[in-house]
Amino acid sequence: MAANDAVVDSTYAPLGVQEHDGSKLVVMGQGYVGLPLAVRAVDVGFDVVGFDVDKNKISGLVAGLSHVDDVDDSAITAMLETGRYLPSESAAHLIDFDIAVITVPTPLRDGSPDVSYIVEAVDLLGAFLKPGALVVLESTTYPGTTEEIVCRGLEAASGLRAGHDFGVGYSPERIDPGNAHWDFTSTPKVVAGIDEASTRAVAAFYGRLVDTVVPAAGTKEAEFAKLLENTFRHVNIALMNELAVSAGGIGVDIWNVIDVAKTKPFGFMPFYPGPGVGGHCLPIDPSYLSWQTERLLGRKIRFIELANDVNHEMPSHVVERLQAGLNRQVKPVNGSRILVLGVAYKKNIQDTRESPAIPLVEQLLELGAEVVVHDPVVASFEFDDQVSRVELSSEELAAADAVVLVTDHDSFDYQMIAAEADYVLDTRRRFADGDYGANIESI
Ligand SMILES: NC(=O)c1ccc[n+]([C@@H]2O[C@H](COP(=O)([O-])OP(=O)(O)OC[C@H]3O[C@@H](n4cnc5c(N)ncnc54)[C@H](O)[C@@H]3O)[C@@H](O)[C@H]2O)c1
Repeated sequence: MAANDAVVDSTYAPLGVQEHDGSKLVVMGQGYVGLPLAVRAVDVGFDVVGFDVDKNKISGLVAGLSHVDDVDDSAITAMLETGRYLPSESAAHLIDFDIAVITVPTPLRDGSPDVSYIVEAVDLLGAFLKPGALVVLESTTYPGTTEEIVCRGLEAASGLRAGHDFGVGYSPERIDPGNAHWDFTSTPKVVAGIDEASTRAVAAFYGRLVDTVVPAAGTKEAEFAKLLENTFRHVNIALMNELAVSAGGIGVDIWNVIDVAKTKPFGFMPFYPGPGVGGHCLPIDPSYLSWQTERLLGRKIRFIELANDVNHEMPSHVVERLQAGLNRQVKPVNGSRILVLGVAYKKNIQDTRESPAIPLVEQLLELGAEVVVHDPVVASFEFDDQVSRVELSSEELAAADAVVLVTDHDSFDYQMIAAEADYVLDTRRRFADGDYGANIESI
């Protein structure tokens, strides 16, 4: 009997669409990934426990407050009103779950993956695991995590057997905060299981939540696919950053180069330079792949290491460009007032994790600049105790020796900035084409 036949014949029953209408779903982690998942699951009829170890997040959710950009407070209130959403920090609420999805953080610690949050979540779930249940990992991680950590951890905590008594799968999240075109439902979802029955169960579950599910050959392939997607962007952005520095040095406008190159209808895809990369997907996730390759094969992935270096150097490049811009006005950075516009890692969101604004502000402060920040979207910024927050006004623009656009939020009044600022360094090529000239330049 083939391995898969053994699973299909086992007591573990695939969790089909019909069997699980209104079944109990636990979402471990109510952050940027877990909260939108909970919203959608409540929408389609699941009873959802939104479990998180962060007491503040849970008390906010209980009070109907969202801490995630793409989820409005009204969506939380609507979920609570159905009576099918329970935000909780109490492990007792995990009891009797049918499906659990793990969406906990996977940061890097000293260059190595920190999977301790996954281990903790698995330990908690394992204590409540029942035969027939399905556990799916969504956190971004190195290929092999689902088998090594989720399966083995659940087995150890429950005494049950993965693929025999319960199903396990992996489904990477592709959420793109601030993207108005592709949302949770319309973005195709890659799904995988540790065996055929698990794959069917994972596909059936996500088939209720999204328009299109795409089965991968196995959990390692699905884990790798997520890292491929992020590495692809990371490397291509690094290439554009490297070319931007080179083009600037030889007097060529890289943005114009990309604009004409992208008219090629095949074999080219535009990526753009910027002040560096932020969030989790680019600065952190590709390193998981490089780490795992080094662990198993004794060598890192060179493209990823190089992309890390290039993207990491961009804030310093922006500082050098600012220095040069001020120099032309016969001003040193030391003592100059520099207005930083936008500190989120991308536009229209409040997330500052790994934002290039952090090393940029740090370096400007070290050089003695008087840094002021305007970001109406970000509630709290790492340097709030060292830099003043200011309004975006004619007076503030006129008072600044240099303005640097780090994050191009749509709400900024670009016409006013162009009209009032003495000197603007635009790291996002956001101004109207005619604005670039004496007082506005792009990287
Ligand atoms: N944010 C994105 O755009 C995005 C996109 C794709 C994938 N991812 C990946 O998804 C995962 C989660 O990312 P996120 O942005 O939602 O992180 P987040 O920090 O916003 O949310 C994670 C939540 O998990 C909670 N948590 C920690 N330990 C826990 C535990 N043991 N049990 C329950 N909850 C626990 C944290 O308190 C936090 O609220 C990461 O692996 C990330 O790389 C994120």
